[in-house]
Amino acid sequence: MESEHQDLSAKKWVLVTGANSGIGEATVNQLAEGGWNVLAGVRREDKLDHFSGSPYADSITTFKLDVTDDRDIERIKQFVSFELAAELYAVVHNAGIFDLGPVVDKQKDRVSQVFDTNVFSIISLTRALLPSLKKLKGRVVLISSDGGLLNFASNTLYCMTKHAVEALGEGLAEELRHDGVSVSIIQPGNIATPIFEKAIEARKDEDTSSTTETEEYLSDNEAFMRSRGPHVVAEAVTRALTDEYPQLRYTVMELHEMRNLIAHNIDKLVAMNQSNDEPINPEEFTMIISYNLLQESEVFSALTKQFDGWWSKDKRRTKR
Ligand SMILES: NC(=O)c1ccc[n+]([C@@H]2O[C@H](COP(=O)([O-])OP(=O)(O)OC[C@H]3O[C@@H](n4cnc5c(N)ncnc54)[C@H](OP(=O)(O)O)[C@@H]3O)[C@@H](O)[C@H]2O)c1
Repeated sequence: MESEHQDLSAKKWVLVTGANSGIGEATVNQLAEGGWNVLAGVRREDKLDHFSGSPYADSITTFKLDVTDDRDIERIKQFVSFELAAELYAVVHNAGIFDLGPVVDKQKDRVSQVFDTNVFSIISLTRALLPSLKKLKGRVVLISSDGGLLNFASNTLYCMTKHAVEALGEGLAEELRHDGVSVSIIQPGNIATPIFEKAIEARKDEDTSSTTETEEYLSDNEAFMRSRGPHVVAEAVTRALTDEYPQLRYTVMELHEMRNLIAHNIDKLVAMNQSNDEPINPEEFTMIISYNLLQESEVFSALTKQFDGWWSKDKRRTKR
């Protein structure tokens, strides 16, 4: 069932990281237009005036925030505690970098940079903002990716970080639920933003043997730039911030991406089951899938009321 929207946004403060480009920029503008006060975190000082020409500039406060820099995290913590009197309702962990090329090519510094930006910063920044988020029973939104549930061989390092974001989001949701803080994970497929070009640029600094590979990536980029624009992800973020009962996951994928994701993950589960020394039988496997698919249907809810307890909650994991 789709949750109802509430007007929770009236003049609430939200922090968006990686705000000067792509999904972050679209999200800042959409939230500011929707009546939020937005703290827009930008990595570079020369981007501090990025929103000065925006029609919503009055609702946007730009803040220098390199999410991998502990000093910047301390500064935002102080700003939220004292200037905002701990009235920050939500954080959108959007800052991220993409990475291309075989994982064996990756030097330790690059691996650290990608993990620091895409994963570890989420832990430090969430911790820094927790007093305010707890006080307001606010929200945390993480931008993951289909690469959090699939591995694409041309970008394994990136996928590794997004797999970690998936686990982190689930863990934070459990940990913070008791404090009334909701956590949502947004899972976009390909979105046309500059992220791919930046990764191609970063790859030029690496020792790589193959120019053909680079050419392949460049042609991928053309397909990539035909994808939908970042506003579709901004819409999902807005839902995660305003739904009365926010979902753990909001997926923003095109049909072919969704098909690929489902087929790949079912293949994986079937192969895991078959290789297990105690596999569950195909009938039970099918029943679990049917159960999850039908759970939201009216027929199913009528049936479960009738047979209350035949498939008790402790026999399965709670559906999210
Ligand atoms: N585009 C897609 O297809 C896609 C799909 C799934 C998920 N995502 C995720 O969506 C998020 C946004 O990506 P995007 O596509 O909008 O890419 P983008 O246009 O390149 O934007 C990324 C933003 O993150 C910022 N950033 C990078 N390192 C940072 C750091 N250390 N501290 C603070 N900010 C930093 C960038 O700043 P600079 O411009 O200064 O580098 C930029 O503002 C990322 O988490 C990405 O993984 C994107």
